[in-house]
Amino acid sequence: MRSLLGLTALLASARAVLAGSLPSKIYGVNIGGWLVLEPWMLPGEWETMGGSICDDCSTCIQSEWAYTKAYGQATANREFAQHWTTWFTQNDVNTLQADGINTARIPLGYWIVEPLVNRATEFYPEGGIAYLQKGVQMLADAGIQVILDHHALPGVQTPDQSFTGNCTDNVQFYTDYNYERALIWTAVMISLVHLDPAFSSVFAIEAVNEPIMDADETPNYGTFQKNFVDTVRAVELILGIPVQGLSLDTQITTSNFTEALGQVANASTVFNADVRAALAAAAPILAELAAQLSVPALLDVDLGSGVDRTSLVTTFMDINWQYDDPPNPADAAIGPQGYDNHLYYNYGGVADPDPTAYMESICNLQRVQADAALGDTPLWFGEWGLPTQFNATDEFLYMWADAQKLAYSEGQGWIFWNFKVEQSEVAGNLSRQWSYIEGVNLGYLTKDPADYHNASVCDPYVTSS
Ligand SMILES: *[C@@H]1O[C@H](CO)[C@@H](O)[C@H](O)[C@H]1NC(C)=O
Ligand SMILES: *[C@@H]1O[C@H](CO)[C@@H](O)[C@H](O)[C@H]1NC(C)=O
Ligand SMILES: *[C@@H]1O[C@H](CO)[C@@H](O)[C@H](O)[C@H]1NC(C)=O
Ligand SMILES: *[C@@H]1O[C@H](CO)[C@@H](O)[C@H](O)[C@H]1NC(C)=O
Ligand SMILES: *[C@@H]1O[C@H](CO)[C@@H](O)[C@H](O)[C@H]1NC(C)=O
Ligand SMILES: *[C@@H]1O[C@H](CO)[C@@H](O)[C@H](O)[C@H]1NC(C)=O
Repeated sequence: MRSLLGLTALLASARAVLAGSLPSKIYGVNIGGWLVLEPWMLPGEWETMGGSICDDCSTCIQSEWAYTKAYGQATANREFAQHWTTWFTQNDVNTLQADGINTARIPLGYWIVEPLVNRATEFYPEGGIAYLQKGVQMLADAGIQVILDHHALPGVQTPDQSFTGNCTDNVQFYTDYNYERALIWTAVMISLVHLDPAFSSVFAIEAVNEPIMDADETPNYGTFQKNFVDTVRAVELILGIPVQGLSLDTQITTSNFTEALGQVANASTVFNADVRAALAAAAPILAELAAQLSVPALLDVDLGSGVDRTSLVTTFMDINWQYDDPPNPADAAIGPQGYDNHLYYNYGGVADPDPTAYMESICNLQRVQADAALGDTPLWFGEWGLPTQFNATDEFLYMWADAQKLAYSEGQGWIFWNFKVEQSEVAGNLSRQWSYIEGVNLGYLTKDPADYHNASVCDPYVTSS
């Protein structure tokens, strides 16, 4: 692996890493439980909708798939529309803005691009995309920048997790068919981001949330990483957005953007067959969305002078997310790229379950340096929270919040999971350690996210230099 890196770099000389248009430090929250509904975050509402929660989530109605299969399309569409309207609101955006949040990561399922769903065998609610459009507009109005996160991939990217949309051990994402669907999703999203003003605050797009950690079980994921970046950059070049080290070899003879996608798909020799197929397949989907979401620019835009946008930051989980000789996403970079790591202590395997071990672990975290040594920089921590394996005291949670923020700010910053969770009798104390808004209310998280209760909190625990 090491000895091949030089060769890979030579072969792909266009794949240069540049600093992107990122916030100088990310102080963020996830908008989780919204367009990908995870029942554990809203147990009362989920039960009212008719869902259930059980020990093995594949055996009850504990995912969007299971719900839609059980209740049918019409009921699912109606119930989820209600959820999308009420879970993330203007009030929430106002609170996040007042709390100084500058970034929102929005988890999305592949099914939000509805023509990608094979309705005979796949079951998901319809209608989410209009809510996404409203949500990103609210965030843009509040000056909060957005990362679109492909969180739940076609075919399911990791087993037995409701966050993939379908709790199942039948993992099918790492196949040609589903990689291709993910590329089409990407082409559609990038086109909306650049042509729909509602999406103007989006600065990054994340390829795959939490793939399987054992790279032996993710065949061809490295090829997908390169195709993902190529798809993003192909759309940008068609729009006249400059891309470092890459240009089109196709004459575009139309102001109809969806037709231009087809022209490049047919004629370009710059992009491989997978990328060209994704551009071609995205065209008719976008032609429909032009009407559905009222985005006239998808059908008529001055491609000659170029749209006034900059390249998005392509984003991957960092190389050290995986083991067993994983592909390095740094090898796929063309233009600005960022890296994401998620760190939770409460599931075990990170530190012994006691306060001192947690502090010793977080205060000596080497992840930013270890990733940077492999070219995976800038790195941010796109998911973390305050949960613990023990009953944490208030005193500990002040320290735990400070120490994590200090560690993650050695990189590009942090994005808390989640902006909120349900507050109800059945949810119990869930919000105390899982909700950013509640964490600020309770004082564990400082009102100004750049602040600390005690910036020296790690001093007694640091053992490395
Ligand atoms: C989704 O889950 C069901 C079981 O609930 C399973 O039969 C099906 O194969 C799963 N689909 C995928 C794509 O994994
Ligand atoms: C633009 O091109 C698409 C094909 O991608 C076609 O369906 C649509 O009718 C065209 N629209 C206009 C306004 O030219
Ligand atoms: C692309 O090629 C196909 C097949 O030859 C053709 O039907 C289609 O019109 C072409 N699309 C464009 C936009 O040129
Ligand atoms: C935490 O506190 C709850 C309620 O007081 C108790 O039921 C539970 O056993 C405690 N958990 C641990 C790990 O001590
Ligand atoms: C909930 O948190 C409070 C401290 O804020 C604690 O006293 C109580 O035991 C907790 N309940 C459970 C069930 O853990
Ligand atoms: C901050 O934490 C350090 C290390 O534990 C401690 O020595 C110091 O007294 C704390 N400062 C305040 C103001 O509590």
